[in-house]
Amino acid sequence: MTEKFMFTKLRIAILGANGQVGQEFKYIGTSYEYFHFDFYSKQNLDISNQEEVRAVLDKNYDYVINCAAYTAVDKAESDAEACYAANTSACQNIVDALKGKDTKLVHFSSDYVYHTYTGFPIREEDSTKPQGVYATSKLEGEQIIRASSVPTLILRTSWVVSSFGHNFVKTMLRLGNEKSSVAVVNDQYGAPTYARHLAQTVLEIITQVAANPALLSAFDETYNYANEGIVTWYDIADRIMKEKGLSCLVHPIPTSDYPTPAARPGWSVLSKHKIKEQFNIEIPHWYSALKECLNAIK
Ligand SMILES: NC(=O)c1ccc[n+]([C@@H]2O[C@H](COP(=O)([O-])OP(=O)(O)OC[C@H]3O[C@@H](n4cnc5c(N)ncnc54)[C@H](OP(=O)(O)O)[C@@H]3O)[C@@H](O)[C@H]2O)c1
Repeated sequence: MTEKFMFTKLRIAILGANGQVGQEFKYIGTSYEYFHFDFYSKQNLDISNQEEVRAVLDKNYDYVINCAAYTAVDKAESDAEACYAANTSACQNIVDALKGKDTKLVHFSSDYVYHTYTGFPIREEDSTKPQGVYATSKLEGEQIIRASSVPTLILRTSWVVSSFGHNFVKTMLRLGNEKSSVAVVNDQYGAPTYARHLAQTVLEIITQVAANPALLSAFDETYNYANEGIVTWYDIADRIMKEKGLSCLVHPIPTSDYPTPAARPGWSVLSKHKIKEQFNIEIPHWYSALKECLNAIK
Protein backbone atom coordinates (compact mmCIF):
# COMPACT_ATOMS: atom_id res chain seq x y z
CA MET A 1 0.00 0.00 0.00
CA THR A 2 1.44 3.40 -0.91
CA GLU A 3 2.09 6.03 1.72
CA LYS A 4 -0.32 8.39 0.01
CA PHE A 5 -3.06 5.81 0.15
CA MET A 6 -2.47 5.22 3.85
CA PHE A 7 -2.34 8.83 5.01
CA THR A 8 -4.14 10.93 2.44
CA LYS A 9 -7.60 10.28 1.12
CA LEU A 10 -7.66 9.81 -2.62
CA ARG A 11 -9.61 12.69 -4.17
CA ILE A 12 -12.17 11.61 -6.73
CA ALA A 13 -14.41 13.78 -8.90
CA ILE A 14 -17.63 12.20 -10.15
CA LEU A 15 -18.99 13.90 -13.30
CA GLY A 16 -22.63 13.33 -14.27
CA ALA A 17 -23.42 12.66 -10.62
CA ASN A 18 -27.21 12.67 -11.08
CA GLY A 19 -27.31 9.83 -13.58
CA GLN A 20 -27.83 6.15 -12.75
CA VAL A 21 -24.14 5.34 -12.33
CA GLY A 22 -23.31 8.72 -10.80
CA GLN A 23 -25.95 8.30 -8.10
CA GLU A 24 -24.68 4.82 -7.29
CA PHE A 25 -21.24 6.34 -6.58
CA LYS A 26 -22.97 8.81 -4.27
CA TYR A 27 -24.82 5.98 -2.55
CA ILE A 28 -21.88 3.62 -2.03
CA GLY A 29 -19.21 6.33 -1.65
CA THR A 30 -19.92 6.84 2.03
CA SER A 31 -18.63 3.35 2.83
CA TYR A 32 -15.19 4.07 1.33
CA GLU A 33 -13.57 6.10 4.08
CA TYR A 34 -10.22 6.30 2.26
CA PHE A 35 -11.76 8.22 -0.67
CA HIS A 36 -12.94 11.81 -0.74
CA PHE A 37 -15.60 12.43 -3.40
CA ASP A 38 -16.70 15.65 -5.06
CA PHE A 39 -19.92 15.16 -7.01
CA TYR A 40 -20.68 17.31 -10.06
CA SER A 41 -24.09 17.08 -11.68
CA LYS A 42 -24.89 18.67 -15.02
CA GLN A 43 -26.23 21.67 -13.11
CA ASN A 44 -22.83 22.53 -11.63
CA LEU A 45 -20.61 21.14 -14.39
CA ASP A 46 -21.63 20.89 -18.04
CA ILE A 47 -18.86 18.75 -19.53
CA SER A 48 -19.51 20.20 -22.97
CA ASN A 49 -18.36 23.57 -21.61
CA GLN A 50 -14.58 23.74 -21.95
CA GLU A 51 -14.11 26.51 -19.38
CA GLU A 52 -16.27 24.84 -16.74
CA VAL A 53 -14.39 21.56 -17.21
CA ARG A 54 -11.02 23.27 -16.95
CA ALA A 55 -12.02 25.14 -13.79
CA VAL A 56 -13.15 21.95 -12.01
CA LEU A 57 -10.38 19.64 -13.19
CA ASP A 58 -7.74 22.21 -12.27
CA LYS A 59 -8.28 20.98 -8.72
CA ASN A 60 -5.78 18.17 -9.33
CA TYR A 61 -7.92 15.18 -8.47
CA ASP A 62 -6.36 11.75 -8.14
CA TYR A 63 -9.20 10.32 -10.22
CA VAL A 64 -11.96 11.70 -12.41
CA ILE A 65 -14.84 9.32 -13.07
CA ASN A 66 -16.89 10.47 -16.03
CA CYS A 67 -20.47 9.19 -15.65
CA ALA A 68 -21.88 12.06 -17.71
CA ALA A 69 -23.27 11.23 -21.13
CA TYR A 70 -26.10 11.88 -23.54
CA THR A 71 -27.89 8.51 -23.26
CA ALA A 72 -31.22 9.12 -25.03
CA VAL A 73 -30.28 6.89 -27.95
CA ASP A 74 -33.43 7.47 -30.00
CA LYS A 75 -33.62 11.21 -29.39
CA ALA A 76 -29.96 11.44 -30.43
CA GLU A 77 -30.94 10.65 -34.02
CA SER A 78 -32.64 14.05 -34.27
CA ASP A 79 -30.46 15.84 -31.71
CA ALA A 80 -27.01 14.90 -32.95
CA GLU A 81 -25.31 18.16 -31.99
CA ALA A 82 -26.18 17.82 -28.30
CA CYS A 83 -25.25 14.12 -28.33
CA TYR A 84 -21.82 14.74 -29.86
CA ALA A 85 -21.25 17.68 -27.50
CA ALA A 86 -21.74 15.49 -24.40
CA ASN A 87 -20.27 12.22 -25.67
CA THR A 88 -17.51 13.28 -28.02
CA SER A 89 -16.26 16.86 -27.77
CA ALA A 90 -16.68 16.74 -23.98
CA CYS A 91 -14.07 13.95 -23.96
CA GLN A 92 -11.69 16.40 -25.65
CA ASN A 93 -12.51 18.99 -22.97
CA ILE A 94 -11.74 16.47 -20.23
CA VAL A 95 -8.44 15.21 -21.62
CA ASP A 96 -7.33 18.76 -22.48
CA ALA A 97 -8.03 19.83 -18.90
CA LEU A 98 -6.15 16.81 -17.50
CA LYS A 99 -3.12 17.09 -19.79
CA GLY A 100 0.10 17.21 -17.78
CA LYS A 101 -1.66 16.51 -14.50
CA ASP A 102 -1.26 13.48 -12.28
CA THR A 103 -4.96 12.59 -12.59
CA LYS A 104 -6.31 9.28 -13.85
CA LEU A 105 -9.58 9.07 -15.74
CA VAL A 106 -12.33 6.43 -15.68
CA HIS A 107 -14.68 6.69 -18.64
CA PHE A 108 -17.76 4.65 -19.53
CA SER A 109 -18.62 3.52 -23.01
CA SER A 110 -21.22 1.25 -24.50
CA ASP A 111 -21.94 -2.12 -26.05
CA TYR A 112 -23.41 -0.06 -28.92
CA VAL A 113 -19.90 0.60 -30.25
CA TYR A 114 -19.57 -3.06 -31.28
CA HIS A 115 -22.87 -3.74 -33.10
CA THR A 116 -21.41 -6.93 -34.44
CA TYR A 117 -22.43 -10.57 -34.32
CA THR A 118 -19.59 -12.86 -33.33
CA GLY A 119 -21.59 -15.83 -32.07
CA PHE A 120 -19.32 -15.64 -29.02
CA PRO A 121 -19.10 -13.15 -26.16
CA ILE A 122 -17.64 -9.99 -27.71
CA ARG A 123 -14.05 -9.27 -26.68
CA GLU A 124 -12.59 -5.81 -26.33
CA GLU A 125 -10.39 -6.30 -29.40
CA ASP A 126 -13.28 -7.33 -31.64
CA SER A 127 -14.26 -4.96 -34.41
CA THR A 128 -16.50 -1.97 -33.83
CA LYS A 129 -19.32 -1.05 -36.20
CA PRO A 130 -21.39 1.60 -34.41
CA GLN A 131 -24.72 2.42 -36.01
CA GLY A 132 -26.49 5.66 -35.28
CA VAL A 133 -25.59 8.92 -33.61
CA TYR A 134 -25.29 7.74 -29.99
CA ALA A 135 -23.15 4.70 -30.85
CA THR A 136 -20.85 6.72 -33.10
CA SER A 137 -20.56 9.55 -30.57
CA LYS A 138 -19.49 7.07 -27.88
CA LEU A 139 -16.84 5.42 -30.07
CA GLU A 140 -15.46 8.79 -31.17
CA GLY A 141 -15.31 9.84 -27.51
CA GLU A 142 -13.24 6.74 -26.74
CA GLN A 143 -10.92 7.48 -29.65
CA ILE A 144 -10.29 11.04 -28.45
CA ILE A 145 -9.41 9.74 -25.00
CA ARG A 146 -7.12 7.01 -26.35
CA ALA A 147 -5.30 9.52 -28.53
CA SER A 148 -4.52 11.62 -25.45
CA SER A 149 -1.77 11.09 -22.92
CA VAL A 150 -4.22 10.92 -20.00
CA PRO A 151 -4.12 7.52 -18.25
CA THR A 152 -7.65 6.24 -18.75
CA LEU A 153 -9.58 3.11 -17.96
CA ILE A 154 -12.47 2.74 -20.40
CA LEU A 155 -15.32 0.49 -19.33
CA ARG A 156 -17.75 -0.62 -22.04
CA THR A 157 -20.99 -1.60 -20.41
CA SER A 158 -24.50 -2.61 -21.48
CA TRP A 159 -28.16 -2.31 -20.46
CA VAL A 160 -27.55 -0.27 -17.30
CA VAL A 161 -30.21 -0.54 -14.57
CA SER A 162 -30.47 0.99 -11.11
CA SER A 163 -32.90 2.09 -8.47
CA PHE A 164 -31.85 5.60 -9.53
CA GLY A 165 -32.82 7.37 -12.73
CA HIS A 166 -34.79 5.97 -15.64
CA ASN A 167 -34.31 2.48 -16.97
CA PHE A 168 -35.95 -0.68 -18.29
CA VAL A 169 -36.56 -2.24 -14.85
CA LYS A 170 -38.44 0.80 -13.62
CA THR A 171 -40.45 1.04 -16.85
CA MET A 172 -41.44 -2.64 -16.58
CA LEU A 173 -42.46 -2.21 -12.93
CA ARG A 174 -44.68 0.71 -13.91
CA LEU A 175 -46.22 -1.13 -16.88
CA GLY A 176 -46.61 -4.29 -14.81
CA ASN A 177 -48.70 -2.37 -12.31
CA GLU A 178 -50.75 -0.55 -14.96
CA LYS A 179 -51.36 -3.10 -17.73
CA SER A 180 -52.57 -6.66 -18.15
CA SER A 181 -49.97 -7.43 -20.83
CA VAL A 182 -46.85 -5.98 -22.35
CA ALA A 183 -44.89 -6.89 -25.50
CA VAL A 184 -41.11 -7.02 -25.16
CA VAL A 185 -38.42 -7.82 -27.73
CA ASN A 186 -36.96 -11.28 -27.52
CA ASP A 187 -34.25 -11.26 -30.18
CA GLN A 188 -31.67 -8.90 -28.70
CA TYR A 189 -29.17 -10.81 -26.57
CA GLY A 190 -27.03 -9.36 -23.81
CA ALA A 191 -27.01 -8.86 -20.07
CA PRO A 192 -28.08 -6.06 -17.79
CA THR A 193 -25.51 -4.16 -15.76
CA TYR A 194 -26.54 -3.23 -12.25
CA ALA A 195 -25.05 0.25 -11.89
CA ARG A 196 -24.16 -0.42 -8.25
CA HIS A 197 -22.00 -3.39 -9.26
CA LEU A 198 -20.34 -1.26 -11.92
CA ALA A 199 -19.58 1.52 -9.41
CA GLN A 200 -18.31 -0.98 -6.83
CA THR A 201 -16.03 -2.51 -9.47
CA VAL A 202 -14.53 0.87 -10.32
CA LEU A 203 -13.80 1.60 -6.65
CA GLU A 204 -12.38 -1.91 -6.23
CA ILE A 205 -10.02 -1.27 -9.16
CA ILE A 206 -8.91 2.08 -7.69
CA THR A 207 -8.34 0.37 -4.34
CA GLN A 208 -6.27 -2.35 -6.01
CA VAL A 209 -4.19 0.21 -7.93
CA ALA A 210 -3.48 2.08 -4.69
CA ALA A 211 -2.23 -1.13 -3.12
CA ASN A 212 -0.35 -2.31 -6.20
CA PRO A 213 0.89 0.46 -8.52
CA ALA A 214 1.81 -2.15 -11.15
CA LEU A 215 -1.92 -2.28 -11.90
CA LEU A 216 -1.71 1.30 -13.13
CA SER A 217 -1.17 -0.15 -16.60
CA ALA A 218 -4.92 -0.84 -16.58
CA PHE A 219 -5.35 2.89 -17.08
CA ASP A 220 -4.31 2.40 -20.66
CA GLU A 221 -6.87 -0.29 -21.40
CA THR A 222 -10.49 -0.91 -22.37
CA TYR A 223 -12.58 -3.47 -20.49
CA ASN A 224 -16.10 -4.83 -20.91
CA TYR A 225 -18.34 -5.00 -17.87
CA ALA A 226 -21.88 -6.37 -17.48
CA ASN A 227 -23.50 -8.84 -15.13
CA GLU A 228 -23.03 -12.50 -15.98
CA GLY A 229 -25.39 -14.57 -18.12
CA ILE A 230 -27.12 -14.13 -21.46
CA VAL A 231 -30.71 -12.90 -21.68
CA THR A 232 -33.11 -10.94 -23.84
CA TRP A 233 -35.18 -7.96 -22.71
CA TYR A 234 -38.17 -10.32 -22.70
CA ASP A 235 -36.41 -12.62 -20.18
CA ILE A 236 -35.74 -9.68 -17.88
CA ALA A 237 -39.29 -8.35 -18.12
CA ASP A 238 -40.75 -11.81 -17.49
CA ARG A 239 -38.50 -12.28 -14.45
CA ILE A 240 -39.48 -8.86 -13.06
CA MET A 241 -43.20 -9.71 -13.24
CA LYS A 242 -42.58 -13.07 -11.54
CA GLU A 243 -40.34 -11.63 -8.83
CA LYS A 244 -42.89 -8.94 -8.03
CA GLY A 245 -45.92 -11.27 -8.30
CA LEU A 246 -47.43 -9.08 -11.02
CA SER A 247 -50.13 -10.65 -13.19
CA CYS A 248 -49.11 -8.67 -16.27
CA LEU A 249 -48.34 -11.10 -19.12
CA VAL A 250 -45.14 -10.56 -21.08
CA HIS A 251 -45.37 -11.38 -24.80
CA PRO A 252 -42.16 -11.96 -26.75
CA ILE A 253 -41.91 -9.98 -30.00
CA PRO A 254 -39.19 -9.52 -32.64
CA THR A 255 -37.32 -6.21 -32.88
CA SER A 256 -39.03 -5.66 -36.24
CA ASP A 257 -42.33 -5.27 -34.35
CA TYR A 258 -40.86 -2.48 -32.20
CA PRO A 259 -39.16 -0.07 -34.59
CA THR A 260 -37.04 2.66 -33.02
CA PRO A 261 -35.20 5.64 -34.55
CA ALA A 262 -31.82 4.21 -33.46
CA ALA A 263 -30.81 0.67 -34.42
CA ARG A 264 -30.33 -1.73 -31.49
CA PRO A 265 -27.52 -4.29 -31.53
CA GLY A 266 -28.92 -7.81 -31.67
CA TRP A 267 -25.83 -9.22 -29.98
CA SER A 268 -24.59 -7.38 -26.87
CA VAL A 269 -23.10 -10.38 -25.13
CA LEU A 270 -19.86 -9.03 -23.70
CA SER A 271 -16.87 -11.14 -22.70
CA LYS A 272 -15.81 -10.17 -19.18
CA HIS A 273 -12.76 -12.41 -19.21
CA LYS A 274 -10.27 -9.55 -19.39
CA ILE A 275 -11.52 -7.56 -16.40
CA LYS A 276 -12.06 -10.69 -14.27
CA GLU A 277 -8.53 -11.94 -14.97
CA GLN A 278 -6.82 -8.59 -14.50
CA PHE A 279 -8.45 -7.72 -11.18
CA ASN A 280 -9.37 -11.17 -9.92
CA ILE A 281 -13.00 -10.15 -9.47
CA GLU A 282 -16.21 -12.13 -9.59
CA ILE A 283 -19.16 -10.59 -11.38
CA PRO A 284 -22.65 -11.35 -10.04
CA HIS A 285 -25.11 -13.13 -12.32
CA TRP A 286 -27.81 -10.96 -13.91
CA TYR A 287 -30.54 -12.71 -11.94
CA SER A 288 -29.08 -11.90 -8.52
CA ALA A 289 -28.23 -8.41 -9.80
CA LEU A 290 -31.85 -7.90 -10.83
CA LYS A 291 -33.08 -9.08 -7.45
CA GLU A 292 -30.71 -6.64 -5.73
CA CYS A 293 -31.89 -3.84 -7.97
CA LEU A 294 -35.57 -4.67 -7.31
CA ASN A 295 -34.88 -4.68 -3.56
CA ALA A 296 -33.19 -1.30 -3.84
CA ILE A 297 -36.22 0.08 -5.70
CA LYS A 298 -38.43 -1.08 -2.80
N1 LIG B 1 -27.93 3.56 -19.66
C1 LIG B 1 -27.48 2.51 -20.34
O1 LIG B 1 -28.21 1.54 -20.60
C2 LIG B 1 -26.05 2.45 -20.78
C3 LIG B 1 -25.62 1.37 -21.56
C4 LIG B 1 -24.29 1.32 -21.96
C5 LIG B 1 -23.40 2.32 -21.60
N2 LIG B 1 -23.86 3.36 -20.85
C6 LIG B 1 -22.90 4.42 -20.51
O2 LIG B 1 -22.74 4.42 -19.10
C7 LIG B 1 -22.49 5.75 -18.64
C8 LIG B 1 -23.45 6.11 -17.51
O3 LIG B 1 -24.77 6.00 -18.02
P1 LIG B 1 -26.06 6.18 -17.12
O4 LIG B 1 -26.96 5.04 -17.40
O5 LIG B 1 -25.68 6.49 -15.71
O6 LIG B 1 -26.67 7.46 -17.84
P2 LIG B 1 -27.77 8.48 -17.31
O7 LIG B 1 -28.55 7.88 -16.21
O8 LIG B 1 -28.47 8.99 -18.51
O9 LIG B 1 -26.87 9.63 -16.67
C9 LIG B 1 -26.11 10.48 -17.46
C10 LIG B 1 -25.98 11.78 -16.70
O10 LIG B 1 -25.16 12.66 -17.48
C11 LIG B 1 -25.76 13.93 -17.42
N3 LIG B 1 -25.32 14.73 -18.56
C12 LIG B 1 -25.78 14.73 -19.84
N4 LIG B 1 -25.12 15.66 -20.56
C13 LIG B 1 -24.25 16.24 -19.71
C14 LIG B 1 -23.31 17.27 -19.84
N5 LIG B 1 -23.14 17.92 -21.01
N6 LIG B 1 -22.57 17.64 -18.77
C15 LIG B 1 -22.73 17.01 -17.58
N7 LIG B 1 -23.62 16.03 -17.38
C16 LIG B 1 -24.36 15.65 -18.44
C17 LIG B 1 -27.24 13.66 -17.45
O11 LIG B 1 -27.96 14.78 -17.01
P3 LIG B 1 -29.44 15.07 -17.60
O12 LIG B 1 -30.21 13.81 -17.34
O13 LIG B 1 -29.88 16.25 -16.80
O14 LIG B 1 -29.25 15.33 -19.06
C18 LIG B 1 -27.34 12.49 -16.49
O15 LIG B 1 -27.46 12.93 -15.16
C19 LIG B 1 -22.60 6.65 -19.87
O16 LIG B 1 -21.31 6.85 -20.39
C20 LIG B 1 -23.39 5.81 -20.86
O17 LIG B 1 -23.11 6.14 -22.20
C21 LIG B 1 -25.15 3.46 -20.43
